[in-house]
Amino acid sequence: MAIETLMLQGVRNLSPVSVAPSTQINLIYGENGSGKTSLLESIYYLAYCKSFRTHKQKNLIQHDAESLTAFCRLKLDKGAYQLGVERNIKGERRIKLNGEWLQSAAELASVLPVQLLDPTMFRLLEGSPQLRREYIDWGVFHVEPNFINVWRNFKTAHKTRNALLRAGGCSEAERLVWHESLAAQADKINQYRQAYIKRLKPVFDSFMQRLNPDLGISMSFYQGWGKDRDYLELLEESWLSDLKMGFTQLGPQRADLRIKANNLPAMEVLSRGQQKMVVCALKLAQAQIYREVSHRPCIFLVDDLCAELDLNHRKALCSLLEELECQVFVTAVEADQIADCWSPQSHVKTFHVEHGILNQE
Ligand SMILES: Nc1ncnc2c1ncn2[C@@H]1O[C@H](COP(=O)(O)OP(=O)(O)O)[C@@H](O)[C@H]1O
Ligand SMILES: [Mg+2]
Repeated sequence: MAIETLMLQGVRNLSPVSVAPSTQINLIYGENGSGKTSLLESIYYLAYCKSFRTHKQKNLIQHDAESLTAFCRLKLDKGAYQLGVERNIKGERRIKLNGEWLQSAAELASVLPVQLLDPTMFRLLEGSPQLRREYIDWGVFHVEPNFINVWRNFKTAHKTRNALLRAGGCSEAERLVWHESLAAQADKINQYRQAYIKRLKPVFDSFMQRLNPDLGISMSFYQGWGKDRDYLELLEESWLSDLKMGFTQLGPQRADLRIKANNLPAMEVLSRGQQKMVVCALKLAQAQIYREVSHRPCIFLVDDLCAELDLNHRKALCSLLEELECQVFVTAVEADQIADCWSPQSHVKTFHVEHGILNQE
């Protein structure tokens, strides 16, 4: 799985782009403000139909332009995909995959498996549990495609219970029916997540050893309620206190991934650079599991590789990316900051960006 052709028009400050990237390593360098992040943002946009740096998607569209288009041709083991996304300033969006219009961006979820490592990645440790749940669930979804249906059913039952709580309650019989349905979905979600973490953890541990063995990092999963508690029983027990609160306090919607360094919360004791190495290990581990399951490597967007990472850590990260056979798009201000990180066997293409113009060297 790799992008063979990339075409962009009307994206931020970029002049129209039409390039054939290396299916392995792509180095993109240029001064601040030249358009490096915009290029990665475009690839991310193709994969997720949203930006990683703004909620206002219309800011991606070039000033004075009516719309943006992004297109790529993806090489697979057997065959190819052609994927195009267009968005205009009115907010209308069209997605075309192999000549067919798609109804929603959700259908893209398994087309282009893109992972992002950028200067804000430490937020995965520091930010709200929601980010870590999204991280876990991205992986669970790819291992267990049925997860999405179970999750939707869970959300319906969860919303209904919260509505009943806000309304001040319901009959015992009605409550029990909803609790049974909610607990059945919650248990399934939890089983899927537990199984995924069990698979992820040893890969994460081994990558952490490679990237930064001295940090004493450990990962554990909090399912969202007490470890050995039966969720149906817990729902029944917590009915009165949930009624007071007006919502369901415990459940898979509260799950979290807990990362510690020598038994202290990682975000409180690690430096930014160290936090980034932990996030790299998390994302690489996810990419490894994805590859085992789908037989396709992920595409990695690595923005500003040098920010807070010294040469040895950069090299350790790059050699793992190579081992995972990922297509990589990596940016830096100077070419020589990222040029020496790769093995001589890798096929490397270098691109220079200047005032939004991308040139292959
Ligand atoms: N919608 C837009 N239209 C045109 N230019 C934009 C738009 N949004 C941002 N820019 C400009 O694009 C330039 C490139 O930004 P960026 O890709 O972040 O650069 P780099 O990552 O190389 O530092 C910046 O100068 C920014 O002001
Ligand atoms: Mg940038």
